[in-house]
Amino acid sequence: MSNQDSIVILDGAKRTPRADMLINNKEPGLFSRFSATQLGGFAIKGALDNTEIDQGLVGHAVMGMAQHSHRDSIYGAKGMAWRGGLDKTVPALTVARICGSGAESIAVGAEMITAGMRHDKKRPFMVVGGAESMQYPFSLYNYRGRKVGAAVQKYGPIETKALSAGTHLQDMLLMSLYDPSAEMSMANTAEELGRRFEISRNEADEFAFRSQTLAKDSRNAGHFKEETVSVTVDNGADSMLVEHDTHIMDNISMAKMGRLPAAFEAGGIVTAGNASAVVDGAAAMVIGKERDAAKHGAKPLARIVGMGVAACDSQIMGYGPVPSTEIALENAGIKGKEIDRVELNEAFAPQAIACIRDFEKMGIDPAKVNMMGGAIALGHPLGATGAILTLTCAYAMRRKGERYGLVTMCIGGGQGISLIIEAL
Ligand SMILES: CC(C)(COP(=O)(O)OP(=O)(O)OC[C@H]1O[C@@H](n2cnc3c(N)ncnc32)[C@H](O)[C@@H]1OP(=O)(O)O)[C@@H](O)C(=O)NCCC(=O)NCCS
Repeated sequence: MSNQDSIVILDGAKRTPRADMLINNKEPGLFSRFSATQLGGFAIKGALDNTEIDQGLVGHAVMGMAQHSHRDSIYGAKGMAWRGGLDKTVPALTVARICGSGAESIAVGAEMITAGMRHDKKRPFMVVGGAESMQYPFSLYNYRGRKVGAAVQKYGPIETKALSAGTHLQDMLLMSLYDPSAEMSMANTAEELGRRFEISRNEADEFAFRSQTLAKDSRNAGHFKEETVSVTVDNGADSMLVEHDTHIMDNISMAKMGRLPAAFEAGGIVTAGNASAVVDGAAAMVIGKERDAAKHGAKPLARIVGMGVAACDSQIMGYGPVPSTEIALENAGIKGKEIDRVELNEAFAPQAIACIRDFEKMGIDPAKVNMMGGAIALGHPLGATGAILTLTCAYAMRRKGERYGLVTMCIGGGQGISLIIEAL
C-alpha cells in the first residue's frame, strides 16, 4: 500500500483525564454523574475542536465501549457523536472487544476507510475512539414477568417498596470482572500468569512503583497536557475543572506497597497497589487516508502501519498482547528491535511482566515499555484504554523524535490486540 493510501491519525486527538470510580473509597468519583456517552462526547468535542479539518468532512464515528453501563449506553457511538457536536447526518458504530474496544474502533475505522465499500467518499474522515463509565450499576434480577410499567414510573426509577420477594441486586462491576469461561475473575487470571511465569510479589510491586513514579514525573513535566481535554464537573453551586488523572499517587514507597494485603486470593501477589485502577474516561481522534489529509491541509500525527488481534486461554487472558503483537509486527513488516516505544496496558503487574518477558524474546526492549507509567497509576477505563494509549504513544513519539510505537492490551475472556503506529 502506498503511503498515500495509508491511514493516519490527525493531530488534535484528545482524551479526558481518567477519574477514579470513587474518591478515597468513600465519595462518588469525579465523573460519577457522567454516562459513557457523555464522556465520549467530551472526548469527541475535544478532538474536533483541536483538529484542523472542516467537521463536514467527517463521514462516520466508530467508538468503543465495553459495558453498557448506563441507561443511555444503548445509543453508544451515536450518543457520543451528537454530544460531541457531530452533525445528525453522521452515522455511528459502537464496537465492543471488551478491554480492547478503544483500539478495535481505530482498527475498524481504518479498515472501513481502506475497504471503501460503504464509506462516504465525500466525507472521507472518521472519528474513532472509546469511552467507559465504570460506575457500573447494580442490576435487579428476577423482577421481569410483570407488565412493563406496572410498579414502575414510566422511564423512571423502580419504587423499591414494590419489589417482590426473590428479587435481588447484583454488582455489575464485580460480576463483569468475573469470566465464567475461565471460572476466575480478571485478577485471578493475573495470579495464574504470576504462577506460570514465577513472578514474585516484590517484582510486581517494583513494577507498580515504576509505573507510579513515571506517571507522576510525566504529569509534573506536563507531558500529558497536549493529549488531555479538561472536563468541567458542575455540582450546582460548585463547578470544578478536572485536568489530571486522579489515581497518580504522590507519596508511595516500596515499604508501604509491600504491606498491602493480597486483594484477590490468599497468598496471592496482586494488591490494590499493583492492579490497574478502576476509572472513568474517554478518548477520540480523527483518522483518514494520508492523501485526504494532504488534500484538506490536515496535519497527521501518526500513521497506522500494522495491526494484530489474537486469542489465548481465558485463564491467562493477560497474555493476549504477546500473540497479537507477533501478528502486528509481521503485518507492519518490522522487527521488535525497531519499536521505540510501547504502551502496554497494565491490567495487573504480573500480567504486564509476563508480556514484557516474552516481548523481549521478540527483540522489544523492556525499558521502552510504559515510559510514562501505565494503568496501575493512570487507570484502565476498559473500552477507552486502547484509544487513550494510542494517542499517548503518538504524542510522546513526536515529542521525542521516535519512529515506531506499539500499542497493545489484554482483553478479558482471552484475547489481545496490537496496533503499530509510525510517528509523522
Ligand atoms: C485491586 C482493587 C480491588 C483495589 O480496589 P480498592 O480497594 O478500591 O483500591 P484503593 O485504591 O482504595 O486502595 C486500597 C487501599 O490500598 C492503598 N493503596 C493503593 N495503592 C497503594 C500504593 N501504591 N501504595 C500504598 N498504598 C496503596 C489505598 O490508599 C487504600 O488504603 P486505605 O484502605 O487505607 O484507604 C481494584 O483496583 C481492582 O479491582 N482493580 C482491577 C480492576 C480490573 O480487574 N480491571 C480489569 C482488568 S482486565
